[in-house]
Amino acid sequence: MSAEIIVLPSKQAVAEALADRTATALRAALTEKKRVTLCLTGGSTPVTAYARLAEAEGIDWGRVHLFWGDERCVPPDHPESNFAMANRTLIRPASIPKTNVHKMPGDCPPPEGSVVYEQALEQFFGADLRFDVLHLGMGEDGHTASLFPGTDALGETDRRVTVGHAPASAAVRDRLTLTFPALAKADLCLVAAAGAGKRGAFTEVLDAYDGEAVGPPIARVEVDGTMVWLVDRELASGLADDDEG
Ligand code: 6PG
Repeated sequence: MSAEIIVLPSKQAVAEALADRTATALRAALTEKKRVTLCLTGGSTPVTAYARLAEAEGIDWGRVHLFWGDERCVPPDHPESNFAMANRTLIRPASIPKTNVHKMPGDCPPPEGSVVYEQALEQFFGADLRFDVLHLGMGEDGHTASLFPGTDALGETDRRVTVGHAPASAAVRDRLTLTFPALAKADLCLVAAAGAGKRGAFTEVLDAYDGEAVGPPIARVEVDGTMVWLVDRELASGLADDDEG
């Protein structure tokens, strides 16, 4: 697995880089295609990024379609909903048309919800699922999307969407998540992660990239396009060289 790792001075700089790199990639894709796809993530790191992205100039949002890598099984106006966060920070401020917003059905019971979202993906992409830009985060345990260590979702190779289970400490345990095969289909995958609490997981990721271990779930995402990590100095301290900032 090859990934570029960019070390930035702060969590704020990570968010800014996530927004700015996404804007650049969307603008480029929009010059080549009629419609462009962006797969969003949840978590705290992208909140500032999505607000900044909403203000980016030169993006024809009428041709950008939004998808999600995971969702908590809650109604769309719930404070824990990934859709609600994106709606507040990006969708409403950028006036993205409703027809372009392909949210995961967090309000469906989990097994049905995964089938419903698979059908939505099938209807939009057919056999060629592909995101122009895919956003991912990493938890302190190395999970990404809602692919948590030790859960069945990690072994799902046939389906594009499945049910995820967060550990007992999470506010919402039942999740819907894209699977590894679905997350592999991206032209550009941006992984944004910050904070000293994630250093242990990041060390394991680097070991996995060196072929020394299987690594946590995020290390098992193998995109067929370009994968770029945007991390802050706190997280990377002593682990990766400063490349930027
Ligand atoms: C979610 C996610 C999840 C997230 C990580 C990192 O819905 O929570 O998509 O995978 O990206 O947990 O979250 P933080 O940015 O809050 O650390």
